[in-house]
Amino acid sequence: MTILDIIDKKQKKQVLTKEEINFWIDGVMNGDVKDYQTSALLMAIVINGMNDDEIFYLTDAMLKSGDVIDLSSIEGIKIDKHSTGGVGDKVTPILAPLLASFGLKVAKMSGRGLGHTGGTVDKFESIPGYKIELTRDEFIKQVNDIGLAVISQSGNLVPADKKLYALRDVTSTEDSIPLIASSIMSKKIASGADYIFIDVKVGNGALMKNLADARTLAHTMVKIGSRYNKKTVCILTNMDEPLGFAIGNALEIKEVMETLKGIGPADLLELIVEMGGLIVSSTLGLDLEEAKIQCFKKINNGEAYNKFQELVERQGGKLENLHISERVVSVRTPKAGFINHIDALGLGEIARQIGAGRYTKDDIINYSVGIVLTKKVGDYVEANEELAKFYLADKDVRLNDIWDCYTIEDEQMPKKQLIYEVIK
Ligand code: URA
Repeated sequence: MTILDIIDKKQKKQVLTKEEINFWIDGVMNGDVKDYQTSALLMAIVINGMNDDEIFYLTDAMLKSGDVIDLSSIEGIKIDKHSTGGVGDKVTPILAPLLASFGLKVAKMSGRGLGHTGGTVDKFESIPGYKIELTRDEFIKQVNDIGLAVISQSGNLVPADKKLYALRDVTSTEDSIPLIASSIMSKKIASGADYIFIDVKVGNGALMKNLADARTLAHTMVKIGSRYNKKTVCILTNMDEPLGFAIGNALEIKEVMETLKGIGPADLLELIVEMGGLIVSSTLGLDLEEAKIQCFKKINNGEAYNKFQELVERQGGKLENLHISERVVSVRTPKAGFINHIDALGLGEIARQIGAGRYTKDDIINYSVGIVLTKKVGDYVEANEELAKFYLADKDVRLNDIWDCYTIEDEQMPKKQLIYEVIK
């Protein structure tokens, strides 16, 4: 068997065997298969696809390229919640303590921001003192003690995915459901949880731009999960406008705290209660509506917020030192009308430009900058009314770039739903 035979087979739209996929991934890891050969094979997969067995073999080969985390010494049901990435997506720091307040165990390994989308690790790191790296033993002990820990993903978790991902990024081969599903699921399986819950974002600010692709991705991931005996549930949610009001790390943590105190944005709270309800009902056997009511209760009686505080304190963070830039610029609308669309991708890019995200992996984030929306889709604005506040450091923003992110019209268009469907 040679890598050229394998590339040739996929280029002819033939099905690869388990042995061939293992040969490829082993070769990626030991250097026998060169980057240009992997790039050619990736492109053939993007064009000709993979069947369910091939996707599973690829997931499995990648999974076995590095550490598989053993969470068996944590008692109880271990939950992993993942998002395919969005703008203003601060669900994990809210949902994780909420779930832990039910006695579920959240041993969460998160990633940094990618492109215009924010990352959970960056958000937690905006809390001064928060220690994002724990040893394996500290991590397990903390989850056993308080029900949750949020740390950055271990360096050796699915190293094959790191290599493939880096090549996909520079060869225009990111956009392939088999490659995305195997990339995400290899990391989820390696992270060791019993129950995997994935928020598949759909819309202009997300990886999946339309519902049909999001559905296919979700079904593919659920099928992979079932082959490992891991209950996998996907929720398809809207990412046509940013989630909540805040975009940018410390600003998002502030909104996390507000939401956990029951005074957060309506869309964010709705999503949290829906997701929390689904997870709690299917893991603890409660009726869905009852589980949602319990989620509301734990937010309103402060239990979920207390868990968040416990998490942050345990990992050394000082919420009272959270720093938000004091240089605030208010952006006003040039005209009156209904806000029919807010370009999440555009605002995510502007947030990155002002320092809230990275362009290269070595860029240093300014945690104190970002955007807080004053208005959301569906709101009516008078001319010169405030659309958003920009929290800036040294970089300024161009008004035209911001206005281009808003569609303001005389007629109100129907608002898209926040939650499309659940696939399990
Ligand atoms: N997230 C991942 O981990 N992998 C992908 O391919 C896309 C999003």
